[in-house]
Amino acid sequence: MVEAKKLIPIYITGKKYLVPNGLTIMKAMEYAGYRYIRGCGCRGGFCGGCGTVYRFKGDYKLQSGLACQTKVVENMYLVQIPFFPANKADYNLDELKPTGGTLLKLYPELARCVSCNTCTKVCPQDIEVMDYMQAALKGDIKSAADISFDCIMCGLCAARCPAEIVQYNIALLCRRLYGKYMTPKAEHVRTRAAEISEGKFDKELSNLMKSDVHLLRKLYNKRDIEPEESKR
Ligand code: FES
Repeated sequence: MVEAKKLIPIYITGKKYLVPNGLTIMKAMEYAGYRYIRGCGCRGGFCGGCGTVYRFKGDYKLQSGLACQTKVVENMYLVQIPFFPANKADYNLDELKPTGGTLLKLYPELARCVSCNTCTKVCPQDIEVMDYMQAALKGDIKSAADISFDCIMCGLCAARCPAEIVQYNIALLCRRLYGKYMTPKAEHVRTRAAEISEGKFDKELSNLMKSDVHLLRKLYNKRDIEPEESKR
């Protein structure tokens, strides 16, 4: 016989619900009757759609997490922040220069960072958000792009920043600038794209298009996953 889970009280937007212990916030909210239309995407900790803030009765400290990854705890007062109305600059990447000046021009609020570290403390991905903001402030776009690489844009950093900076949009700009202007170009990709355009693989591709799914699976499973340099 499956043992019934203990029910614990939680408070969703101030209303009390009894939910089974051990559920994630997301599942507990569904158990309580909420239906997700926004604020839920991948359910696996990747899309950043389910940022949530919570606090425990008697504790002043506001905490945060992803609803799909954080388990409910007795007497948790919570609300989800499915969308944060953050500033996002309009730009055409082709017209930008990969410099600190570009970052400051598009996001002048960057200069208001007071290094309070709130953004790092709130990040559910454990990213050193303040460090990448400092890198951005110094115009070190590569470091800002590297440190922010795992950002899932949940918006919790911006929601808590006392200087009203939009860390995740600045980080996105850094990664775009880094990707477009600073990463070394993959010559083998360029060569292969040119070969495809010249028709080198037309026959092979046409045969693949005519193949049935079983043959495609077989060929896929037999493929060279990391071909040696000499076989490329
Ligand atoms: S639903 Fe995608 S991160 Fe939680």
